[in-house]
Amino acid sequence: MRIDIITVLPELLESPFSASILKRAIEADLVEVHFHNLRDYTTDNYKSIDDTQFGGGAGMVMMIEPIDKCITRLKEERQYEEVIYMTPDGETLNQGMANHLSLKENIIILCGHYKGVDQRVRDQFITKEISIGDYVLSGGELGAAVLCDAIIRLIPGVLGNETSALTDSFQDNLLAPPIYTKPREYKGWQVPELLFSGNHAKIEKWREEQAYQRTKDRRPDLLDD
Ligand code: ADE
Repeated sequence: MRIDIITVLPELLESPFSASILKRAIEADLVEVHFHNLRDYTTDNYKSIDDTQFGGGAGMVMMIEPIDKCITRLKEERQYEEVIYMTPDGETLNQGMANHLSLKENIIILCGHYKGVDQRVRDQFITKEISIGDYVLSGGELGAAVLCDAIIRLIPGVLGNETSALTDSFQDNLLAPPIYTKPREYKGWQVPELLFSGNHAKIEKWREEQAYQRTKDRRPDLLDD
């Protein structure tokens, strides 16, 4: 899979891809991630990427020309299945969307800034608009990093134990059950006895019940779907 991220702040994106699972996925060639600085696609001496709103109003708007130039250049090289715009008024990211996107070959992610992009960018180039939650960030970069993390960990071979992504919270619309490790007892606090029974069927049933109960208590909305 190849992900091209269009941004005015590539430095904000560097660290999430320079450590742990994402770094290893890139090093293992399971994913390619490229950053494109929008200022490299400007035509004026000031490298302007934004301007004031037509019709008045506070806040700057990202201009269409540098974005068009960047996206057009990328599309000359290969076909993209999705051109995603990170924006608080997009569809809220969930595990189903991450699963779906992890199957794509090439995607572009455009990070918004200021008030956002000229509407014509959205109308002409964008195939999907994604929000990472109902709050406003200073720009789309952190959202893009969250989206990439959610996608990349699902690519086969990225996680050491291939089944572990499948047992994550949300994978079956349930939250994950409680988990424990050594020591068996700490300050008198015990691990549930059943986990030492060696009875895998019983343990599996217990985990399912715990996952269901936790989902019912914390996220009943997930059970409605
Ligand atoms: N840009 C600003 N806020 C955002 C959000 N909540 N999700 C995605 N991109 C954003």
